[in-house]
Amino acid sequence: MSDAGEIEVAWIGPQRVPVWPESLELFRFDKDVFFTINSDLVELQQPLIDAILEAESKKLDPEDRQSPGQGGNKVRDLHSLGVPFFDLLNERARRLFMHVTGNKTAVVDDCWANVYRDGYYAMPHSHKRSIASIVFALDNGYEDDAKDDVLNGVLSFADPRMPRCCPGKPGYVSAHVIVRREPPGRMIIFPSHYTHLVTPYHGRRPRISIAWNLNPHKVAGEVVHDGRL
Ligand SMILES: [Fe+2]
Repeated sequence: MSDAGEIEVAWIGPQRVPVWPESLELFRFDKDVFFTINSDLVELQQPLIDAILEAESKKLDPEDRQSPGQGGNKVRDLHSLGVPFFDLLNERARRLFMHVTGNKTAVVDDCWANVYRDGYYAMPHSHKRSIASIVFALDNGYEDDAKDDVLNGVLSFADPRMPRCCPGKPGYVSAHVIVRREPPGRMIIFPSHYTHLVTPYHGRRPRISIAWNLNPHKVAGEVVHDGRL
């Protein structure tokens, strides 16, 4: 444990994995958007992929089975899947929040997996109960049929508060900024109020991402999953 009571190391079977490796670099994507490339996690993530797909096929609540434009089928309560890798991933997301925002605490307001099947996409939206949102690319899917299409199933931004979206004039969106699929293991953090979307995904293997909404402290009220983006 650190002075702040944070877990420093997780065990994935016999493997000891630092929650925040010293070698993990923080890259700037835009003024207030950052990402890490978590290459140490890629070889450990298959059990979580398997558990999410099993939960999606067997246990999904009807309201979490989405129409194609609602951003993928939602698998919630990921801790309940009993996959140690998720606990590690969740701690790393919390640590990323603290690194980027400067807060000494991180409270997850909501967390879920998105399972994008062929033809699924997410319309432009933002997240209203948190100050920062994180997305981890768990499985970018199988895109051989569309591998030359850089717009296939990518998280992207179109927000007037992002300088990269406004190359011609500040505050005027004229560029749709995409988060590339490669390399794998990307975890990106952005202000929750930024308008983002996921372009239509085409591929035979589901594309899976994990999303978090975070605050420095618990916020009042309950999360409502009303199906609205
Ligand atoms: Fe989102």
